[in-house]
Amino acid sequence: MNNPQLNDKGELIHLLTLEGLPAEVIGRILDTAVPFVSVAERDVKKVPLLRGKTVFNLFFENSTRTRTTFEIAAKRLSADVINLNIGVSSTSKGETLLDTIDNLVAMNADMFVVRHGQSGAPHLIARHLSAAGQTGIHVINAGDGRHAHPTQGLLDLFTIRHYKHEFSRLTVAIVGDLLHSRVARSLIHGLTTLGTPEVRAIGPQTLLPAAIESLGVHVFHDMADGLRGADVIVMLRLQSERMKGALLPSAGEFFKHYGLTQDKLALAKPDAIVMHPGPMNRGVEIDSAVADGKHSVILPQVTFGIAVRMAVMSMLASS
Ligand code: CP
Repeated sequence: MNNPQLNDKGELIHLLTLEGLPAEVIGRILDTAVPFVSVAERDVKKVPLLRGKTVFNLFFENSTRTRTTFEIAAKRLSADVINLNIGVSSTSKGETLLDTIDNLVAMNADMFVVRHGQSGAPHLIARHLSAAGQTGIHVINAGDGRHAHPTQGLLDLFTIRHYKHEFSRLTVAIVGDLLHSRVARSLIHGLTTLGTPEVRAIGPQTLLPAAIESLGVHVFHDMADGLRGADVIVMLRLQSERMKGALLPSAGEFFKHYGLTQDKLALAKPDAIVMHPGPMNRGVEIDSAVADGKHSVILPQVTFGIAVRMAVMSMLASS
């Protein structure tokens, strides 16, 4: 089937999801990000790869990490960056998403970074641009509904590869609210595509998607069983803003069974790393002693996010 993210030479033209993205393309993005770490860490100030290009950040949902790191990444690639303030844009006067896009295209946009509460919104924009013959304008999904968060998945893969060097012998445990998590879905697709032999989904029945095993993961309802021997632990936030009805007795009860404490962490491998995409709720899914402890790579994830987003934007611009 035709992949709308790739052109006929197999080059990335949009980044919408990691589902179906070939391992070779994911590997190329991770490799491209490696030299950008020195730009993310400010050893190198700027590179001119997006000079003359205009990137629009369109965030219809709140964000701290993704929005800011996309802005930093685009600026360090020398692009002009426009952060559309959705609250004071004409969206609040009833303008449709696609009318907004058409107007920004008329302002000579080169790239749209889109976060939206509706799953599929970035795909809709990509299809609309293609139908309008705007094949030189690129769309990056910065998180759509529960569906996908591909650059978060890529920065998670980059972090795992940085600390563990390869995927083919790893056990990765993803813990908590997988039901509402686009981060978990993107990471699972990335891990399985890159050949991770053991991906575990740990959580109560009410917070795991039906048929999640079909994604190639093993389900655990007991956290101790799921963490035993893990190389990587990825903690997820309870996404109460997406929950319909009471899926849990209480946050305190959730922490008792699924919160990551030092005692539970001791069940994983001695050199296990602890990850979290943020925003983090201390005392709900993770204890502060773990979040700030020596196994935590939560803040390096954020820095690597700049490098990975630079890699994605530079690859799109050169396709
Ligand atoms: N990880 C992540 O998407 O965080 P933000 O919501 O702050 O962008």
